[in-house]
Amino acid sequence: MWNNITSCSLWRVSSSFMASRIQTLTPLFLRNYKDFCKNRQTIWTLRNSLCQVMKKTVYTKTFPVLDGSIPSVCEHVFEENLRNSEACIQRYSELLCKVSKGGGEKATLRHTQRNKKLLVRERLRMLLDDETFLELSPFAGFDLPYGDVPAAGCLTGIGKICGVWCVFMANDATVKGGAIYPISVKKQLRAQQIAVQNRLLSVYLVDSGGAFLPLQAELFPDQSHGGRVFYNEAIMSAMKIPQVAVVCGSCTAGGAYVPTMADETVIVDKIGSMFLAGPPLVKAATGEDISPEDLGGASMHSKVSGCVDHFASSEKEAYERVRNIILTLNYELPPEETLEYDDPLYSAEELLGLAPQGYSYTLHIKLILSRLIDGSRFQEFKAEYGTTLVTGFAHMEGHLVGIVANNGELTHDASLKGSHFVQLCSQRSIPILFLQNTAPHASEPTSFSQAEDHTNRLKAQASMMAAVACAAVPKITLVTGGCYRNESYAMCGRSFDPNFLFLWPNARVALVDSRHISTFPQARDDDCTGDDSELKHLKEKLEEESSAFHSSARLWDDGIILPQNSRKVIAQCLTIMKQQKYQIASLQHYPVIRL
Ligand code: COA
Repeated sequence: MWNNITSCSLWRVSSSFMASRIQTLTPLFLRNYKDFCKNRQTIWTLRNSLCQVMKKTVYTKTFPVLDGSIPSVCEHVFEENLRNSEACIQRYSELLCKVSKGGGEKATLRHTQRNKKLLVRERLRMLLDDETFLELSPFAGFDLPYGDVPAAGCLTGIGKICGVWCVFMANDATVKGGAIYPISVKKQLRAQQIAVQNRLLSVYLVDSGGAFLPLQAELFPDQSHGGRVFYNEAIMSAMKIPQVAVVCGSCTAGGAYVPTMADETVIVDKIGSMFLAGPPLVKAATGEDISPEDLGGASMHSKVSGCVDHFASSEKEAYERVRNIILTLNYELPPEETLEYDDPLYSAEELLGLAPQGYSYTLHIKLILSRLIDGSRFQEFKAEYGTTLVTGFAHMEGHLVGIVANNGELTHDASLKGSHFVQLCSQRSIPILFLQNTAPHASEPTSFSQAEDHTNRLKAQASMMAAVACAAVPKITLVTGGCYRNESYAMCGRSFDPNFLFLWPNARVALVDSRHISTFPQARDDDCTGDDSELKHLKEKLEEESSAFHSSARLWDDGIILPQNSRKVIAQCLTIMKQQKYQIASLQHYPVIRL
């Protein structure tokens, strides 16, 4: 394992960006190469010496400093928000604990003791350079109409392998034998979309009993059902986004196509198998008794069918193979740079009191900003105009980012300002961070002039939507409060394709806020007024459906993150998104086809 990391470090060193610097460093590296394998310490020392070289100063010091002190008149709002955040975080922690147990104790024992397989997180630990991976949507599959499917039966995320940021998709076979539910398909498709949008190499750890049969009608025929995963594999390969698969368990039916469609595949002896129909079906159809090993085991597929390319005698060996395959991708890596930056001047813990429990509990967005950005320094754009939207530039752990943040309703002026600023970022190739807290209801016009204002606002919001949709820069959306109505589109909601979208646990996602409904909605010519019980039922339904957990369970986002971790997560996403700049552009338009 360490040998791989060693060679990877050397490979990283040879990136063209550093070529001139390397000429002077080469003797140092050659001298030290023999010691590389001796111990980990040496590697890190060398890495650090390299980082010293790449230290980059970010000139943020001249941006004005935000005043993040919480006005005493707002303290009661802060306290209310804090209480709400603590309750949400309690729910978050309980759920995370539940999800981390996968399919439960019995299934875990079956997986590890009887089937002699590693648990999915142990697999990732062996595969990835370190444990600092960004897990995506861990709450997907929670409390769905067809039951709880922990983590949708499949872990997805982004981690580094040999220094390269990769998207991974790993079945968790403790959850119904890794069977694919509709939410598992959605999670895999989202991971593939992230790989495409950010041009990240993909690694599949396949251990799946194929489609969850009782829900087959929701899995098979439609465009974004199971087959789309295989279609995407071909398209991604043609786009020169490499895909590597490991068969580390049963791959039945649909599960067998994932490794077969990958560019390169490794199979683990004894535990890996692939077939369109397993031994029970063969027995039922032909009466023949055949073992999984003979029907579609590692030897058969590596010697006879050619469905896989590498035979590994253990899981450990398989993950080492993957690391070696990645070293053959001829990937150019971004230079390892140490960005120098200042921490925010205010404590991130205070974000819990700033995370609004409702729209009327919203404090000024600059209080949040001052706890997220480097040195709390912010170069505001159009500070005096359209003040219900705050726009400007800041740094996140040294990365320059354009910020578009709700600070009230998205008025006509605010929307025009938003359009202008988003276009500036696009022109200057600066990623955009949207801090979303949109208004839950539109004020009803009471006069002709107000109706005219509304129409003008509509037109301005449409311009902002167009600017956001077409801005050719990476976008990250963080919902800090409400994600309501059409304003959420202009603030780069899910349908506007941000590269990443995260929620705080207090966030609410809905067309309307249940707390603002006082009458049962009715059609103009409908006599039915809806009684109190119907109204109560509607409000309860809306309340439940607006929670961040409801959203995340359905994959309307990429996960819930804690307010105090936001800066780390956003900075990590900005680093990940940078990698695509260094990837070789593809001229070919055909995939790798297994022959
Ligand atoms: N659909 C629905 N449930 C499935 C499933 C599938 N495709 N594959 C496995 N399961 C369920 C099992 O019913 C069992 O449920 P339980 O814990 O409630 O009893 C659980 O997953 C674990 O399966 P089990 O067979 O006990 O585990 P195993 O480790 O011995 O074997 C498989 C795992 C995947 C090899 C085996 O379950 C299998 O062959 N499944 C059928 C695969 C298949 O024919 N798929 C066709 C899809 S089109």
